[in-house]
Amino acid sequence: MALRELQPSPEALPVYEPEVRIFLTPEGVDNFAASKVITLLQNEPSAVLTLPTGSTPREMYWLILEAFNRGEVSFAQATIFNLDEYWPLPPQDPASYASYMRTRFINHIDIPRGNWHIPNSAAEGANEEATRFEALLQQTGGVDLAVLGIGPDLTCHIGFNEPGSAVTSRTRYVELDPRTLVVNQEHFPDPSQIPSGAITQGIADILEAKRILLLAKGGGKARGIARTLKGPVFAEAPASFLRYHPNVTFVLDRDAASLLKTNN
Ligand code: PGA
Repeated sequence: MALRELQPSPEALPVYEPEVRIFLTPEGVDNFAASKVITLLQNEPSAVLTLPTGSTPREMYWLILEAFNRGEVSFAQATIFNLDEYWPLPPQDPASYASYMRTRFINHIDIPRGNWHIPNSAAEGANEEATRFEALLQQTGGVDLAVLGIGPDLTCHIGFNEPGSAVTSRTRYVELDPRTLVVNQEHFPDPSQIPSGAITQGIADILEAKRILLLAKGGGKARGIARTLKGPVFAEAPASFLRYHPNVTFVLDRDAASLLKTNN
């Protein structure tokens, strides 16, 4: 969708009813997400993907790697953009998203060097790095599939677009929500070392993908999912902006979906 044309009145955008797929187990979410990525690449080998990090997609990456090792899928012509990265942080830090992607995925597939893009957590200027990353994203001619997680508690963040993010936002430096810091600092050996900021694709970048999957597993996501799907479309719940997109699927396990049923 051409979001730029719709500024400055995003509230005039049509709101869609997203597809919601509910699986009995987290493995159902993993399998569904992995199969969507694999099928896309089988049909469109030069597809452009936006991919997430975090605990939710770990098993998805594992399943895609298994398919790659069986020769069922190749990334030789694909392009991958990550959603976000802490800043500042040495990229080799085990808690960086660059490390996450390299160790779990990128180092094990056939993607050409130069076809995987993640904001440089060691760049001197965060704003300049965000501008560089955004330009690369715009040069690709469009993202075919964006896979997202959703933030903790009621942040409803996507990427690191925390509450207050504008629907028109682009890749930029952001300060992390205190609730995000509390949850994510667990991934740092010394929790006090978590950066207070990050570089993230913007909401408008995400909404420009042709197709979007949002993955959520576990009861800890239930309130955020209910707010996202049943509450207003507004900046206090950035994931609710996905309801402006005509081709979004919420891929949930039973626990993450548990607060939806009573309202249906
Ligand atoms: P999680 O993070 O997968 O670790 O829950 C998702 C997010 O913060 O977007």
